Amino acid sequence: MSLLSRGFDMAGWGFRWVLVLVLLALWRPGTACPELCTCTGVRISCVDAERSIMAFPMLQSEAEMENITDIYIANQSSFTSINEKDLNLYRNLRNLTVTNTRLTYISRQAFQSNLKLQYLNLKENNLSYLSWRTFHHLNLSSLLLAGNTLQCSCENVWLKQWRGEESEELMCVEEGGKRRALAMLTLPNCVLPTVTLKPTKVTMREGVNVTLVCNTSGTPTPNLNWDTCKLNSAHQKEGSGQMSELKLYNVSSLDNGCKITCRSDNMVGESEASVHLDILCPPVISKLMDAISDHHWCIPFSVAGNPEPKLSWLLNDQPVEEGNFIHTVIHDYSEGEYHGCLQLDSPTHINNGEYTLMASNAYGEDIKAVSAHFMYEPWNESVTDPLYYDPTTDDTPLGPPEDKVAVYVVVGIAAITFTGFILMLVILKFGRNSKFGIKGFVLFHNVPVEVVAR
Ligand SMILES: *[C@@H]1O[C@H](CO)[C@@H](O)[C@H](O)[C@H]1NC(C)=O
Ligand SMILES: *[C@@H]1O[C@H](CO)[C@@H](O)[C@H](O)[C@H]1NC(C)=O
Ligand SMILES: *[C@@H]1O[C@H](CO)[C@@H](O)[C@H](O)[C@H]1NC(C)=O
Ligand SMILES: *[C@@H]1O[C@H](CO)[C@@H](O)[C@H](O)[C@H]1NC(C)=O
Ligand SMILES: *[C@@H]1O[C@H](CO)[C@@H](O)[C@H](O)[C@H]1NC(C)=O
Ligand SMILES: *[C@@H]1O[C@H](CO)[C@@H](O)[C@H](O)[C@H]1NC(C)=O
Ligand SMILES: *[C@@H]1O[C@H](CO)[C@@H](O)[C@H](O)[C@H]1NC(C)=O
Ligand SMILES: *[C@@H]1O[C@H](CO)[C@@H](O)[C@H](O)[C@H]1NC(C)=O
Ligand SMILES: *[C@@H]1O[C@H](CO)[C@@H](O)[C@H](O)[C@H]1NC(C)=O
Repeated sequence: MSLLSRGFDMAGWGFRWVLVLVLLALWRPGTACPELCTCTGVRISCVDAERSIMAFPMLQSEAEMENITDIYIANQSSFTSINEKDLNLYRNLRNLTVTNTRLTYISRQAFQSNLKLQYLNLKENNLSYLSWRTFHHLNLSSLLLAGNTLQCSCENVWLKQWRGEESEELMCVEEGGKRRALAMLTLPNCVLPTVTLKPTKVTMREGVNVTLVCNTSGTPTPNLNWDTCKLNSAHQKEGSGQMSELKLYNVSSLDNGCKITCRSDNMVGESEASVHLDILCPPVISKLMDAISDHHWCIPFSVAGNPEPKLSWLLNDQPVEEGNFIHTVIHDYSEGEYHGCLQLDSPTHINNGEYTLMASNAYGEDIKAVSAHFMYEPWNESVTDPLYYDPTTDDTPLGPPEDKVAVYVVVGIAAITFTGFILMLVILKFGRNSKFGIKGFVLFHNVPVEVVAR
């Protein structure tokens, strides 16, 4: 074969490939819908009984899959499983129907990403076992399972609680092949776990040690797990089988309010018990700052302490009477501290001075002071000196502030206006009694005279 004809041959192949691609493109015109299904915006439907899909349909882009709320699969003889990742990208799925297929297996992670799933119809399939773990993170309104070959085994006993949700009576198949109502099923060695967590109330001083004990019963033997907030206190978990201990050493007041949960599960289901730590400690004022001006003036503070400390204030060693114009406000409670303000409405020079915050509860007290300067005495001559209180800096003297410049400008304008007014009066006076009245002024002047004449 000559080089030339080989070239032609290659071109021929190239052409044929292009043709195949064009045909393929025409075959599935523009849409990203899988061949054996139909897609309408939010819905995918695969019902062609002649040619069955083998697995979940996938669309071309993630964005398209996110738009899907409804998947309907029926009469597919080769469809057998829903695997871990199959529905990963259908994050907005609400309705899923898989019916009249050979569906045998559903992964425990199958619906991990489908938090919006509400309606799940799995009727007329070949499901033998289903785990509650597959569904326990979902908020299903319907789970339809009639027409499967569910076994009368402990693994399916959790389904008894779904009975109320369905009008149909779920049936299960016993070993001999006999069918019976799942609702009536009672099996030996098949008991939902129970948990007890002791003590049921944990109230103690900071710095002590405490041991929480979690006991469980249930068959098959349940797993025990602790689920805690991020603990600041040193801690240790010990135990085996039906009992577990959580030991906390030198408990930190930072763990006040922390929720500690002990969770127990087996194939029948899950139970849990919780306790909130209540760690008593004396008040600590962690922050007391210079007054800042917002809508009101505010002397900000942060105080820790459990029980909630009682707060009171001194101004220059005299108790502050709280009322409409001065009062303590707690804005929020976070990370074990109360954050708030001593709020002052339009404070004047009489509010200037040293503010002392006193926080106390049954376990002790804390005291801190800050000096606040709201305004100069109006008669004080040294107002003109450049010392000026600026709350954003640390009480440092500044040059003449813009406020004062503004005052000078206003006073200046008033003075000029007043001078002008006097000048005008003088001119009008001249205009009335003499002949060098300017026309405009005379006219202007004549109007009031006429009014007076009437
Ligand atoms: C998803 O749906 C929105 C609104 O219905 C639409 O504007 C958008 O084009 C759709 N995205 C895809 C990839 O189909
Ligand atoms: C599935 O097949 C059954 C019987 O073969 C038929 O009655 C039903 O309409 C089919 N379902 C769909 C959605 O095509
Ligand atoms: C989901 O299915 C239910 C029951 O068939 C139906 O009433 C509802 O309209 C469906 N929702 C969506 C979003 O398709
Ligand atoms: C149903 O599943 C069982 C295994 O669980 C399998 O042996 C059987 O062949 C399946 N039946 C059909 C019709 O696929
Ligand atoms: C669960 O669904 C019901 C309605 O089906 C709804 O009222 C409820 O708010 C949902 N709960 C959560 C946590 O989404
Ligand atoms: C707390 O436990 C530690 C370590 O076991 C021990 O050294 C300490 O004395 C205990 N403290 C109290 C108050 O019991
Ligand atoms: C927990 O169980 C163990 C043995 O299983 C028992 O010794 C212990 O007293 C139980 N504790 C509580 C708090 O029930
Ligand atoms: C307990 O914790 C505090 C601070 O959380 C620490 O200062 C103290 O040394 C600790 N005591 C012991 C015995 O570890
Ligand atoms: C006037 O204000 C200055 C600056 O704060 C202060 O040092 C001085 O004591 C005040 N004078 C009087 C009479 O209050």
